[in-house]
Amino acid sequence: MMLKTQASPHSTPGSDALLFREGMSRVAGAVHVVTTDGAAGRGGFTATAVTPVTDSPASLLVCVNTGSRSAQALLSNRVFCVNTLAAADAELADIFAGRAGLQGAERFSRGAWDILETGAPGLTTSLVSFDCRISDARVVATHHVIIGEIIGIRLGEQRPPLIYHGRHYHEL
Ligand SMILES: Cc1cc2nc3c(=O)[nH]c(=O)nc-3n(C[C@H](O)[C@H](O)[C@H](O)COP(=O)(O)O)c2cc1C
Repeated sequence: MMLKTQASPHSTPGSDALLFREGMSRVAGAVHVVTTDGAAGRGGFTATAVTPVTDSPASLLVCVNTGSRSAQALLSNRVFCVNTLAAADAELADIFAGRAGLQGAERFSRGAWDILETGAPGLTTSLVSFDCRISDARVVATHHVIIGEIIGIRLGEQRPPLIYHGRHYHEL
């Protein structure tokens, strides 16, 4: 059944953004830490808004709030890495979401990191790391939509993934 947003029993006029958030909280998603490094400095943030785009050339997109400091570094550096988290790395999801009070390069004080071909930090315990160069970026309302051409893919160990659903982390 399709409900118009303002006709939902869970919404009032003008609450479309809240209803959208509630709707998206019902969608289970993988959790990634998106990292960058370069002249604009090292940074990283937690993201679920990561989507594959094409397989030739291999590319993906990341949506990040225009107010994000890490996003500014990423856009300046023109490179980033999408590190998909295992359930065992849930602590990193909170750290890179700013919930531990750490900013910028401080967030890398936890976890095991190395440097990938683009210069972006790779999480050695990720399920997979996609090393990317920005091929396109545009602003859509409140978010940057950033498309990355994948330069390298590092497959990690097969372990239970971290899933975000109902505003909580879960192990699949
Ligand atoms: C599970 C989870 C998923 C998130 N997904 C996104 C996302 O896809 N895009 C986004 O802009 N912020 C997302 N955030 C919020 C950012 O991780 C958070 O605002 C972060 O602090 C931004 O980095 P900054 O502090 O360097 O600006 C998510 C947070 C959590 C906990």
